Formats: sequence, structure tokens, C-alpha cells
Amino acid sequence: MQAHLIEERLKADTQHAIKAVCVVHNETSTGATSNIQAVRRAIDAAKHPALLLVDSISGLASAEYKHDEWGVDVTVSGSQKGLMLPPGISFNALSAKALEASKSAKLPKSFWARDEVVEMNKTGYWPYTPNTNLLYGWPKPATCCWIRTMADSRGRSRGTAAGARACAPPSRRGAWRSSATKRKASRPC
Ligand SMILES: Cc1ncc(COP(=O)(O)O)c(C=O)c1O
Repeated sequence: MQAHLIEERLKADTQHAIKAVCVVHNETSTGATSNIQAVRRAIDAAKHPALLLVDSISGLASAEYKHDEWGVDVTVSGSQKGLMLPPGISFNALSAKALEASKSAKLPKSFWARDEVVEMNKTGYWPYTPNTNLLYGWPKPATCCWIRTMADSRGRSRGTAAGARACAPPSRRGAWRSSATKRKASRPC
């Protein structure tokens, strides 16, 4: 991802025909992550009103991500990658600017019509049929991810191992720990 090219392209769009810059946070097959902050800076440097839309389907809970702090307008993620659940829940985060834009967007839409969702979310509800089963699967992967994120800021593998051990049945934890320790001893890092 070359942010300077985005900046150049946006600067050339003097009529503001471009409505959004879409970026993939984490490219699933290669694990290459994009510098989202650099894209934000490029949009700001071009003084362009385009929304910043980020696909963090496999990035959420796998790589660092800060929707608000990085000035992202729309983040779309899913249950099926970093959160280690089956597919079926999509997590969306929207800025006030994105919500405002969706009010005047003329594309026909149903599930992406945010007003109904936002209204019902206020009382903890969802306007369609929610995937309730997946919510029951939530606590364990969430714990793994939390431990994985918190355990090791230097690299992913040690954190993943810590998360996996924490989620193992108590009777298996010792075994997992000792085999991981042996593997670690035989490798330089
Ligand atoms: C980065 C990324 N974006 C989008 C998708 C599509 O997700 P879905 O199959 O839930 O539409 C995938 C699926 O593998 C993905 O890895």
C-alpha cells in the first residue's frame, strides 16, 4: 500500500467525485498489513472529503487496530477469522461522518441501511434475525484474543501460544505448556 499514490490521486480529484478510499487492513492469505494511519494522513493531506473504509475481516483481534484513534470512518470485520468463531456475525464500526453520509446515499440498500440498526441498538436489539448461537461461542475466543494481544507485544507466536494454553481444558494445560517450552528451547526465538 503506497499512501503517497492515494494522496496524489485524491489531489487530482478536484471535483470530489471519489466518495471513499477502501483499504484492506490485513491481507488474509499473506498476512500483509496496511498502514491505515498513513492512508488517513494521505486523505487529510489532500484535503479530500472521501470516507476511509477499512476491511478488517481478518485483522480484528489479529493485528493492532484503532478505529477511532486512526480516524477510520467505516470498519467492517467478521467473526470467522481472528475471533476464531464460525462465520455469521459481522462487526461494523462507523464514524459520525459515515452515519451522516449514509443518510444521503442514494444507492438502494436494506441491510446496510444504518438508521434502523442504530435506532434498535440503543435498546440492545437488532432489526433482523441475529446469530444468537455464535454469541454463545463468544467468551472463549474473546479470552484467547485478549490474552494473545496482551501477552506479547513483540511477536504473535508467543502470544498465540499463551492464548491457546489459557483456553485449553485445565487437564491439558500442563502438557501444552511443557511441549511449548520444549519447542521454544529448540528454536532461537
Ligand atoms: C480480508 C478479507 N476481506 C473480506 C473477506 C470476505 O469475507 P466474507 O466471506 O465473510 O464475505 C475475506 C474472506 O476471506 C477476507 O479475508
